Parts: sequence; structure tokens; C-alpha cells
Amino acid sequence: MLRVGIIGASGYAGAELVRIITQHPHMELTFISSRQFKGKNFTEIYPAMNGFIYLKYSELDLKKIEAETDVVFIALPHKIPMSIVPDVINMGKKVIDLSADFRFDDITKYEKHYQPHTAKKYNDQSVYGLCEVYKKNIEKASLVGNPGCYPTSILLPLIPLLRNRLIKKESIIVDSKSGVSGAGRTPTPSNHYCNISESFKAYKIYAHRHTPEIEENLSKAANSDVSIIFTPHLIPMSRGMLSTIYVKTDKSVCESDIRNCLNDFYAHSPFIRIHSENSFPDTQHVRGTNFCDIGFKTDKSGHNLILISAIDNLIKGAAGQAVQNLNIMFGMDETSGLNNVPYPL
Ligand SMILES: NC(=O)c1ccc[n+]([C@@H]2O[C@H](COP(=O)([O-])OP(=O)(O)OC[C@H]3O[C@@H](n4cnc5c(N)ncnc54)[C@H](OP(=O)(O)O)[C@@H]3O)[C@@H](O)[C@H]2O)c1
Repeated sequence: MLRVGIIGASGYAGAELVRIITQHPHMELTFISSRQFKGKNFTEIYPAMNGFIYLKYSELDLKKIEAETDVVFIALPHKIPMSIVPDVINMGKKVIDLSADFRFDDITKYEKHYQPHTAKKYNDQSVYGLCEVYKKNIEKASLVGNPGCYPTSILLPLIPLLRNRLIKKESIIVDSKSGVSGAGRTPTPSNHYCNISESFKAYKIYAHRHTPEIEENLSKAANSDVSIIFTPHLIPMSRGMLSTIYVKTDKSVCESDIRNCLNDFYAHSPFIRIHSENSFPDTQHVRGTNFCDIGFKTDKSGHNLILISAIDNLIKGAAGQAVQNLNIMFGMDETSGLNNVPYPL
């Protein structure tokens, strides 16, 4: 059994990691950290998992991590992981970081949109953990920067089409909607019940930090610079993410061209489900699962294509993809611990 530690196991992404690892056939959870709940049982904070987990929260103790774990997930806000990762990597552990700290190839982009990076040497070794696209690199990685939730939902439908030159790299417009858990567990005025229930709003227009992460990976797929127009929205549900993506096709294409491309690219990707004609993804169908569902339709001219993707932001957009990465890094079946059947409603 792999001994697993989670730094930041009191937050939403960390708690999802606890849930998944508790039912993983080859992993044993041995260490969980939280500052505010140090000494408390995990189930005092998340009573839903009563009877499944008996660990107490510890403070972030590197000696304990060295002695008690083989692999470590970090589920902390960005900026903090880059101060921890060097120590944990130097202990010989593999690390999956869920923050933005190790997601960028081009560190100047990270520094422009976040803050100065203090572990550049480690960033050079890190691999972007979009499992279906970079699997070969992930297999060899010791440090994975787990993708953001919006990037996951946007890159998975677009990368195969860009790589195969089926769509124009100009004029990609993305309209994404996220459940409120995307903002984490700490209450703020913008995620307060009264401000989000019966409300649907756009935010961070032309200013969301996931835009450079998306553009860096689309540019790699297109082999030249790609810019997108991306508008995130907050919707009144706790989890789930739907992205509607408007693109121009490179020449007149029919739906079978798009379908063949996506089916070929994802032929060996158990978590990607391509919808049949005139059937479109729904966040309810991926809730609590690691699936990314993708649907699409072209207009009559064949020059305009709409793609729709749905994920659970906390699973495929965070903890599920992180465990999928770990499975790949350790040569396990990538579905281990993640092959639960979705709820029927
Ligand atoms: N939520 C999502 O849908 C989602 C999706 C993709 C990626 N992510 C990324 O995953 C990471 C965790 O997100 P989350 O949504 O789980 O956030 P969260 O619910 O706010 O949890 C944050 C965690 O970090 C700990 N923490 C906060 N400030 C800290 C500090 N200064 N020093 C040490 N620990 C600190 C908190 O624990 P204590 O306060 O108890 O110590 C808590 O365990 C973030 O980097 C986020 O960008 C989240």
C-alpha cells in the first residue's frame, strides 16, 4: 500500500482527496494536516465520512511527513506550496500540487499573474497534470502541477481539435459556469448564501488567472500563440462546472470530422465520454465522478462549432484528477479509486 499524506485536508479539495483515497485499493491515508483543526478528528469537520476514516488532523510537520508518507498531495492556496515542495521532493517523495504554483512551463507568466516564484528549479522539473494529454510525461514525473478546474474543462475539448488543425486558433470564445465550491471553504461576501442563491453572474472578466494557464496549453497544441476570450460565471450550486466553447472551424467540417477526431484522441481515456449527436453534457451526470463529458454541434455552414464540456470541479477539476495523476505516476490502473458509477439523478 502507498502511504499518502494530504497537506491542507480541511479544505474542499483536500476533503475530496480524503474521500477518494479512503476507498482506493492501493493507497492508505496516513497523514492529514490543518492549522485550524489540529488535533481534531477529520469526521468532526466532515461528519458525512463517519465510520470510514479515523485520522486526526496534525499540523504541517515535515518530520512526520518524512516518516509516515510515500507520496504527498498539497491542497493549499497558491504561494504556500512553493515554500513546501522543495523539502518534500528532497525527501524523495512524489508530490501532486493542486495549486497554480507548478502548472506553468513559462514561469514569467506565473510571475505576471500570481507573484514571484521562489522554487523555479523545482518548477523546471514539474509536469502539467492534464492526464489525457500529457500522460507520457506524468509517468516519469516526481512533481505534478495539477490543472485548474476551468482549464481542465476547456482544454480537454479543444486540444485534440487544435492539434489536428480542425479549428481556427483565432476567435475562441469560452463561457464557463462554476459551482460555488470552486472558491474554497472559507466564507466570503461573494460566496455567502444570500449573495449566490437565486443569482447567476459573470466575474473577473478579462482578468481570471486561469486564462494564461489555458492559453499556454492551447498554444502548445496549436504550435503557435493562442489567445482566448474567457468569461467565468458563478452559478448557485455547490459543485459542477459547464463550459460552452464557441469556435470557427478551419474549413467547412461536418460533425463526423469532429467526432472522429475526439473519439480517436480519447480512444484510451476512460474518463472522457463523448456524447452522441444532439445529446449534450449536464453537470448532474458527472457529479461526484472523475468524468469529463463532451458534446458538440456544428451549424449548417459547417464553419461554426459549439463544444460543451461538463466536469465536477472538485473531482476531475481537482482531487480526482490528482489521484488519476498519482495512479499514472506509480504505474497503476489510472481508474483505481475513481471508478464509481455516477448517480442516476
Ligand atoms: N475548489 C476547487 O474547485 C479547486 C479546483 C482546482 C484546484 N483547486 C486548488 O486547490 C487548492 C485548495 O483549494 P480549496 O478549494 O480546497 O481551498 P479551501 O477550501 O480554501 O482550503 C484551503 C486549505 O488550505 C489550508 N490553508 C489555507 N491558508 C493556509 C496557510 N496560510 N497556510 C497553511 N495552510 C493554509 C486550509 O487549512 P487550515 O486553514 O485548516 O489550515 C485548507 O485546508 C487551491 O490551490 C485551489 O486553487 C481548487
